[in-house]
Formats: sequence, structure tokens, C-alpha cells
Amino acid sequence: MAREFSTVGVVGLGTMGAGIAEVFARSGLAVVAVDVDSAAVARGRAHVEESTGRAVARGRMDEAERENLLGRITFADSLEAMADAELVVEAVPERMDLKTQVFSALDRICAPDTILATNTSSLSVTQLSVVTGRPSRVIGLHFFNPAPVMKLVEVIRTVVTEPEVVTDVEALAARLGKVDVTVGDKAGFIANALLFGYLNHAVSMFDQHYATREDIDAAMKLGCGLPMGPLALMDLIGIDTAYEILDTMYRQGRDRLHAPAPIIRQMMLAGRLGRKSGRGFYSYESEGSPVVVSDDLTPAGDHLGDGARAVRRVGVIGSGTMAIGIIEVIARGGYDVVSVTRGREKADKVDQAIRRSLEKAVQRGKISEEDRQSTLARMSASTSLDDLADCDLVVEAVVEELSVKQALFANLDDIVKPGAVLATTTS
Ligand SMILES: NC(=O)c1ccc[n+]([C@@H]2O[C@H](COP(=O)([O-])OP(=O)(O)OC[C@H]3O[C@@H](n4cnc5c(N)ncnc54)[C@H](O)[C@@H]3O)[C@@H](O)[C@H]2O)c1
Repeated sequence: MAREFSTVGVVGLGTMGAGIAEVFARSGLAVVAVDVDSAAVARGRAHVEESTGRAVARGRMDEAERENLLGRITFADSLEAMADAELVVEAVPERMDLKTQVFSALDRICAPDTILATNTSSLSVTQLSVVTGRPSRVIGLHFFNPAPVMKLVEVIRTVVTEPEVVTDVEALAARLGKVDVTVGDKAGFIANALLFGYLNHAVSMFDQHYATREDIDAAMKLGCGLPMGPLALMDLIGIDTAYEILDTMYRQGRDRLHAPAPIIRQMMLAGRLGRKSGRGFYSYESEGSPVVVSDDLTPAGDHLGDGARAVRRVGVIGSGTMAIGIIEVIARGGYDVVSVTRGREKADKVDQAIRRSLEKAVQRGKISEEDRQSTLARMSASTSLDDLADCDLVVEAVVEELSVKQALFANLDDIVKPGAVLATTTS
């Protein structure tokens, strides 16, 4: 039988701690929430009040539930308040010196069977455990940001963590409505070990002026289906926290991928910490606000179409997944499309795939029957590149082989009218 907790503690009420306190209180636990001084406690309390206020506004809880939730949290500015907690989660900044201080103090204040957990993203849980007299009851409990929303928690077991402690914490995660994954003590665990190389790379891309912050974020949201772009995510995580995580991972693994892009440290030193300070890669309405406001890097107005040449007829070459999708999108967008394939059989395959897709779109109510018919009417098929002669734009989506694409472009150059644009879908 897993241990049933009734009182838990949270140390550090910043980006993560305030959310973790809310998650505990939501599931009926009494929570002792501690930060360094009254101002920090007030910020933490305000964070929980705002977050639960938003939940009420969205109909996710009623006002009475909110009152009860807030009533279960006791705020304090001294760790001595943790004396009765059966489990404490530490969520102070990602620095070993701070965390070891907190762990030694908790070890002194809390009962011997109290489980001490850290929300660290990258520091060694084992190294933290040995500053206490109870290393077997020290564990990692890594929540994700924002804690009330994200489903995952990583449970980090060191080589000395008692199996019962792991079971107790896994059961607690389930009670909180979270899905847990249990992993060994290696910097970054699962999610951050995979995520942070990518975030770091996105920052370098931005710093090298390869693309704007808006375009980098749009590429990953709209091209890869992620809910948030990497630079917006850096701001959500906190630039200082991200720096400490990358730095620890780099020191531990020596993988260049994790060597923090220099601009991250510069931003940290300049106090551009992301949402929490109101300015990071983006600017926000106020400290802690998720609302992005315009700043000197915000692109001016929408110039789409200004001076652009008119495109009426588009050619698409190829019969694979991409070509089929592109033909459909362009035809649905109101352009005439000539599809060029190598042979009748492939042309039929393209035609049938688009008909099926349009049929589904009608069934799902995404387009009307009239839209379907007019889209089909705008499409024509050919097996000869010569039929692209009057296109304003030709998009090739043939096999990913440079020599094939080069030969095709050379051919098209002789066929298309002057001023026509040739585009490639190469990855
Ligand atoms: N930010 C994220 O997205 C994220 C996600 C998962 C885990 N984490 C981890 O959570 C921990 C906290 O990160 P954060 O982003 O919430 O940091 P933060 O800077 O937003 O908040 C830290 C809080 O700890 C308080 N604090 C500092 N020293 C303290 C002490 N001695 N006693 C009590 N409170 C103290 C600060 O006043 C502040 O309120 C870090 O270990 C971080 O790696 C962060």
C-alpha cells in the first residue's frame, strides 16, 4: 500500500513552485508554501490566485472550489513551517549551492520519514541527497511548465532511493492526475535531455540573424505541429532557468549541442528573463503576463501582396504525398492548377487521392459541396511538361535527388514563359 499523504510542502514559489502548490491543493492536500521573504510569498500567492481565477473564468472550477483550494494553502516565509509536511518539493532556482542549503535545512526541520523531493531539471539528485541524513528518502519529482496544465511528471530515482519511496511518489503523481515516468539520475532526464539541444539551436539561429523570432516560432508551430515555438517556450521557461539547465547538461555530457548559446547568458545578466520579468525574446504586457506586446523587433504591418506579381495558374510536378497535398491546397485557394505526372496511371492516382480528400472535407463540414466542385473544376492533368508553358508559378515536388531536380529545372527553363517563378519543395 502506497503512503497516503495529507500535508505536503513546496519551497520556492516562482514559475514552477506556485503551480506545484496549486496542483497539490487541487487534489485536496494541505499545502505549506514557502519562499524567502514576504514579497516573494506575496508574488507566489498572487500567482496561485490569478491562475485559479482564470480557471474559474474558463468554467473549469467554481468560486467555492477556488476558495477551498486557496484555503488549503498556508503561505510562510520560513522553512521552519515545514515541520509537519510528509513530503516537500523544492523548487528554488536551478543552482546547486541554493538547493543544498535548502535540503540541509529541510533535513533538520522535517520528521525523519518525510520524503524530500526536488523539482530540479538537470542537477544531480544524488548529489543533493547526500547533504541530508536520509539519502534513501530523497527523490526527483520533476513537473512541467505550467504545472497545473502539463500532464507529465518525471520521477527520478537515485541508486539509493528506497523502492517504497518511488512507489509512494508514483501513487501521489496518479492522485494529482498526472502521468509519471520513472527514470535514473542523469542531467535532463528524458524530456529536457531531448528538448534543450533544440531550444539552444533555435536561439543560435535567431542570434545569427538566420530568421526572425516570429519565423522561427511559426516554423515549429505550423510546420511541425508543436503548440509553441522554441523562443516563446524559452520565455515561458525563464532565460535564467534555461541557462542553468543547459550549462549543467553541457558540463555533464560535454555535448556541443548543450553549450549555452552566448546570447542566453547575456540576456540573463541583463535581466531579460522572459515572461517573469516582462521581457525576453518577446516583450510582455507586464511581469508574469503571457500577453505579447509589440516592440522594436515586431515586424511592421502586413505587406502581403504589396507589389507581388499576379499568380493565376500554377503547375505542380510530381505524384507523391507532397505533390497531391500541394495541388489540393492551391486549387482550394482559388488558383487554376495543372498537375504534371509521368504517365496516366500516376495522374489517376493523384486525381483519386484529391477526390477522396475533398470528399472527406465535405463530410467533416470543412468545405461545402460547391467548394468541392469548383476546386475540382480548377484542376487539370497532363503528362507533358509543355503544358506548363502558360503557368505563372511552377512547383516541383519530385524525388529528393539533386540531379533529378536540376535536370527538371533546366527543362522548365526552356518551357515556361518569361517571369514565371520556379519553386522547389526540397527539404
Ligand atoms: N521554469 C521551468 O519551465 C521549469 C520547469 C521544470 C522544472 N523547473 C525547475 O524548477 C526549479 C525552479 O525553477 P523556476 O523556473 O520556478 O525558478 P524561479 O526563478 O521562477 O523561482 C524560484 C523561486 O524560488 C525562490 N527562492 C530562492 N531561494 C529560496 C530559498 N532559499 N528558500 C525558498 N525560496 C527560495 C525565489 O524567490 C523564487 O520565487 C528549478 O530547479 C528549475 O530547474 C523549471
